[in-house]
Amino acid sequence: MNLAVNVAGITLKNPVMPASGTFGSGKEFSEFLDLNRLGAVVTKGVASVSWSGNPPPRCTETASGMLNSVGLQNPGVESFIRNDLEFLKNFNTNIIVNVCGHSISEYIDVVTALRDTPVHMLELNISCPNVAEGGMSFGTDCHMVEKVVSRVKKHCRQPLIVKLSPNVTDICEIAKAAESAGADALSMINTLLGMKIDVKRRNFSLAKKVGGLSGAAIKPIAVRMVYQVRRAVKLPIIGMGGIMTGEDAIEFLMAGATAVAIGTASFHTPTACIDVLDGIEVFMRRYNVPDVNDFGRMLESN
Ligand SMILES: Cc1cc2nc3c(=O)[nH]c(=O)nc-3n(C[C@H](O)[C@H](O)[C@H](O)COP(=O)(O)O)c2cc1C
Repeated sequence: MNLAVNVAGITLKNPVMPASGTFGSGKEFSEFLDLNRLGAVVTKGVASVSWSGNPPPRCTETASGMLNSVGLQNPGVESFIRNDLEFLKNFNTNIIVNVCGHSISEYIDVVTALRDTPVHMLELNISCPNVAEGGMSFGTDCHMVEKVVSRVKKHCRQPLIVKLSPNVTDICEIAKAAESAGADALSMINTLLGMKIDVKRRNFSLAKKVGGLSGAAIKPIAVRMVYQVRRAVKLPIIGMGGIMTGEDAIEFLMAGATAVAIGTASFHTPTACIDVLDGIEVFMRRYNVPDVNDFGRMLESN
């Protein structure tokens, strides 16, 4: 049985990885699962200098999901290299660093600082809904996407994954802009803008009022978008949004994703990534699928 996949020239032993921001840099989760079993570890967003994020409350549960307005709290790239990367490089897995910034030059500072490190791939976060500058404001306009991706790409030594926002009218246009600007792969989707009101407190549930919706509730939207983008561009796609089980992951692979990421599920089940991986293997054995890459050729009507 083959579980290995190739994303932009990098071989992953299997298609499963955590989604950025839901797994720290792996340290806490290494107490619950063996990081060596993952196809990759994806870190929380890393900026050029430390960010404190948004004020609390910044997470709240919703029907089949959650809203967050964490706002890319992180220690900055130098601290990340000294502490998190020192830890992560001991594992037999690929390291993907999620890169964030308020401006193009801040993104460039991060990818430049990571040039001579053991990082395997970079994931450009131009889709965070929780920061005022950078983030989603870069990822929702085709010209801006082209500008950011082409300028950052010139400074990257590792393959560049561009993370797309679902908060757009036509995600295929954004995907095409990223492809023509030199992206090596796409990851999708980031969270959807949402709001929750606590009627008894007569107040917003999040201090920032608006947050990003994730979890099972968004899966049909994510699967639809992966399917559409698969047909619009040639780049490999890392699919995510509401994956809870192996069969959820296989849905994304059938829709056209090469690999998958698990986010919100890890908050209630810290072993979720491994459970999803085991679920994929059980499905493959049961239905005689010899190669995980076969899922992408399986849909009866395309
Ligand atoms: C608490 C939280 C923090 C997140 N932080 C980041 C981040 O730093 N960078 C990023 O690109 N996406 C971030 N995301 C988005 C996830 O990586 C993922 O795209 C999204 O949650 C959808 O997947 P899920 O439904 O499996 O959680 C975050 C999501 C959550 C819930």
